[in-house]
Amino acid sequence: MCGIVAYVGPREATEVLLEGLRRLEYRGYDSAGVAVMNGSGISVRKAVGRLSALEHELAGNALHGGLGIGHTRWATHGAPSVANSHPHISYDGKVGVIHNGIVENYRELKNELLAQGVTFKSDTDTEVVAHLVAREFRGDLKAALAGVLKRLRGAYALALCHVDQPDRVVATRMGSPLVVGLGDGENFIASDVPALLKYTRRVIFLDEGQIAEITRDGVHLYDRELREVKGKEVRTSLTLEAAEKEGYEHFMLKEIHEQPHAIAETIRGRVTDERVDLSELGLDPAVLKGVRRIAVVACGTSLYSGMVGKYLIEHFTKLPTETWSASEFRYADPVIDPSLLVIAVSQSGETADTLEALRICKQRGARTLAVCNVMGSSIPRTVDATLYTRAGPEIGVASTKAYTTQLAAFALLAVGLGRMLGTADAADEARIVRGLEALPAQVKALLTDDIVAVKRCAKRYKDVFNFMYIGRHYNYPTAMEGALKLKEISYIHAEGYAGGEMKHGPLALVEDTFPTIAIAPRGRTREKMVSNVQEVKARKGVVVIVSTHGDEEARELADYLIEIPDCEEELSPILAIVPLQLLAYYTATQLGRDVDKPRNLAKSVTVE
Ligand code: F6R
Repeated sequence: MCGIVAYVGPREATEVLLEGLRRLEYRGYDSAGVAVMNGSGISVRKAVGRLSALEHELAGNALHGGLGIGHTRWATHGAPSVANSHPHISYDGKVGVIHNGIVENYRELKNELLAQGVTFKSDTDTEVVAHLVAREFRGDLKAALAGVLKRLRGAYALALCHVDQPDRVVATRMGSPLVVGLGDGENFIASDVPALLKYTRRVIFLDEGQIAEITRDGVHLYDRELREVKGKEVRTSLTLEAAEKEGYEHFMLKEIHEQPHAIAETIRGRVTDERVDLSELGLDPAVLKGVRRIAVVACGTSLYSGMVGKYLIEHFTKLPTETWSASEFRYADPVIDPSLLVIAVSQSGETADTLEALRICKQRGARTLAVCNVMGSSIPRTVDATLYTRAGPEIGVASTKAYTTQLAAFALLAVGLGRMLGTADAADEARIVRGLEALPAQVKALLTDDIVAVKRCAKRYKDVFNFMYIGRHYNYPTAMEGALKLKEISYIHAEGYAGGEMKHGPLALVEDTFPTIAIAPRGRTREKMVSNVQEVKARKGVVVIVSTHGDEEARELADYLIEIPDCEEELSPILAIVPLQLLAYYTATQLGRDVDKPRNLAKSVTVE
């Protein structure tokens, strides 16, 4: 949802900005642009499409200077075009601005400016900010920004420069992420830490509403009333290597292969002697005993992990648990009171709908927890406690290792909460812990053994127009997630369905060209899944079965068989999704799709 980066220092700003934008391109790739201050004014270069188009533009028309702002765009207001690309410049040519988010009341502000004779060059909501700041400027950029912020509604991370204060960048955030990078004789602003890693690991995560003013020599933070405040400097544990492809053709493939390590990291230190230890969360057992209901809120892939989480939590805590798409929750008037525990699930920690659902819950006194991957992001900063997934940076737009680590985190959380509430059985706990500990090696084996079968399957079915994925109970969400992976990167239509629901409608779709992927590992619903497969076969449908090693019946029934290692039923979604991630990946690459940056999507959805 747009990436922003800013630099002040002795280097060529353009180089720093391009490096930062390269790391932020996962946030949007409709267009990109940079503005550099060069002594006489602000010079801008923009290009539609990927960052490489901007690099090409700059190669023929370079920009020099030590202060600059850069942007990679995911279009919200106004089509991808040069005019709508950021940075935007004010009517007097003095203010440059980049923005991630949406100014919700921009129409009203634009009409006001139009009535005052200001001419607009773009269709964006952002351009109003440049003009308003120019109007408000009386020699101090941060004061002008603070004045304008009083009038803005919506979500934003903004960075600005002004020709009359050519030594500084001023930035602020509300609902969109922003981090300050601290250098030696140079300082930085970015939407996300990887953009800074080449230069510094010392960062300050800006709080909501704070304003940062950076020059070569210093960083000052202010609240909305321009009272100076102190920021908390942290040393990020992320490394540049983790943000590179390391020889893989795509980030998605690299991230799929990182899953054994990511899962091992997620359980590290949280299981010992067949017990789950979640003391890091600092949960008060007395508070927990007051919880009567649990609601899991999330979007997309994180929502599907939350659906598995619901089954696990209900099993181990006996507390009624609902899952909610965060975008629905916000407007559905759900019952929220202090007896509700809300669990927000998010890879990025910045998803606008999830964040807003959380805020509503907090306002009404609910207890809040998060399962999140990005430290210091907005969701962990909003909740009472966070169980981090430790997957490392996920760059590919299609979520893979974040999902499987979320599933592992939910297993820990369900058992851990169950123990604190006295509802989880010790033998059950030990069984899950052993199962979790076995997972990294099992996923590794799966990634080595089954790739050939999956590749063959992808080759065979890449040209069909529709896919059906079916599963039951713990693997019903696997069907949804498998279908989502396929559609988002290959653009083939795919639906995830509960196996038992096929005969209530979708069976009508089945014919000899229509593949159904049935997720049927060992467990309580396997038999029922086999019956569902029989029903599809009886209608001459094509079936790919994901089953446990050694399931001879599945072998006989399947047109293609994908086997996963035997594991605890509750953990089977973690193994079952891996070949489906690969199936989506190989289908998409055979179709020549841009796997890491699928059309119309962006990694971090910071708009509603
Ligand atoms: C799909 C995908 C998205 C995200 C969703 C929520 O592969 O990545 O569906 O899961 O946008 O994002 P987070 O988890 O960052 O809140």
